[in-house]
Amino acid sequence: MEVRDNRIHFEGISAESLLEKYGSPLYVYERKTIEEKAETLLNSIDYEPKELKYACKANTNIEIMKIIRGKGIKIDAVSPGEIYAALLAGFKPEDIMLSINNPSWDEIEYAVEKGVLINLDSLSALERYGKSYSGTKLCVRINPNVGAGHHNHVITGGPESKFGISYRDVTDIIELASKYNLKIVGIHQHIGSGILNPDIFIKAMRVLLDVAVNFKNLEFIDFGGGIGVPYRKEESPIDIQVLGNRITAEFESFCNKYGRDLKLVLEPGRYFVAESGFLLATVTSVKKGEKHVFIGTDTGFNHLIRPAMYGSYHEIYNASNVNGEKIPQVIAGNICESGDTFTRDENGIVDRELPAFKEGDIVCIANAGAYGYSMSSFYNSRPRPAEVLIENGTARPIRKRDTFEDIFKSNLDL
Ligand SMILES: Cc1ncc(COP(=O)(O)O)c(C=O)c1O
Repeated sequence: MEVRDNRIHFEGISAESLLEKYGSPLYVYERKTIEEKAETLLNSIDYEPKELKYACKANTNIEIMKIIRGKGIKIDAVSPGEIYAALLAGFKPEDIMLSINNPSWDEIEYAVEKGVLINLDSLSALERYGKSYSGTKLCVRINPNVGAGHHNHVITGGPESKFGISYRDVTDIIELASKYNLKIVGIHQHIGSGILNPDIFIKAMRVLLDVAVNFKNLEFIDFGGGIGVPYRKEESPIDIQVLGNRITAEFESFCNKYGRDLKLVLEPGRYFVAESGFLLATVTSVKKGEKHVFIGTDTGFNHLIRPAMYGSYHEIYNASNVNGEKIPQVIAGNICESGDTFTRDENGIVDRELPAFKEGDIVCIANAGAYGYSMSSFYNSRPRPAEVLIENGTARPIRKRDTFEDIFKSNLDL
């Protein structure tokens, strides 16, 4: 994204021309950012064998998944739907792991049928799986009792978390594996999302490595994702090279102890795609309320729920007047709930100093590539936006805008 003539452009293409062509609101992604991120992370780990997986829950657009596949990255899926998407994007079954929480039996069967490795995260699921699939390989997810994340909702390790088998239950895991002749080839953890402090990542890694010595048939250890990105201009990014060096050093010293070089696996989602994506919308009204100036737009939390759900901060630009004079404003959506504002924190709406918007101006919400479209909905029966990819100075549509027929007609033939 760049500013030219006081307006936002993507590789020379103006936000305005994108909305004219593809309609408003619109998700825009920059291919080069995704590729740079993938290369940076791959280069930061000086250890072989290693494997990066993309936690595709962050963004399951098929064209985006194809870009990631092009970099040699594999897939972490959390549902059969994500397995389906990964296969559609050209990943092979052996490139995919299903890290599923509270799976139904149908979901386990689906993964087995497709030839996808399953990562189970409870002793009861392990028992159920063992009864039917004795003699097979699988991975188990451990809760290392360490958790972190940008919000309580996304902390997935520690005593309050529903994920994983406690690191204290190793003996039970091993007993069940031996009872059903299961080969535990991998152990896994994912402690949370949006982590900007490498120390917590390393702390959890050490717990998992202590657990790992108990498993004799390991082929890989997966330390999950969770690498944060800076959402505010003043936030510093995590130093990926420093993190990569520390991960490499810990893992090498573990492998020396273990007696074999296992595969080192990481599975970030946000890191690969967050900064590549922008949500563009159009200002539909400007209203002076009792306390705030409300800038109404043609999008809402049905398209980007992070501010309403977590109080998350996203940089916002007036794409039609980037350097205009700033005034305090609240950027609001068109959904019938008061929580539908993009400038907010966990306690409610917050004024943001932004160049004054007028009707017809374009709002550009940055860092929307992860957990944006993938968490969107039809709420208020409003269609989800189209998506376009910017590559080599051109824009290519990668998903069409929903129609009312998409929302309603598919349910008519029951
Ligand atoms: C099992 C698993 N792995 C990886 C991730 C990716 O997290 P992030 O996007 O923060 O890297 C998640 C996200 O919730 C997850 O549940």
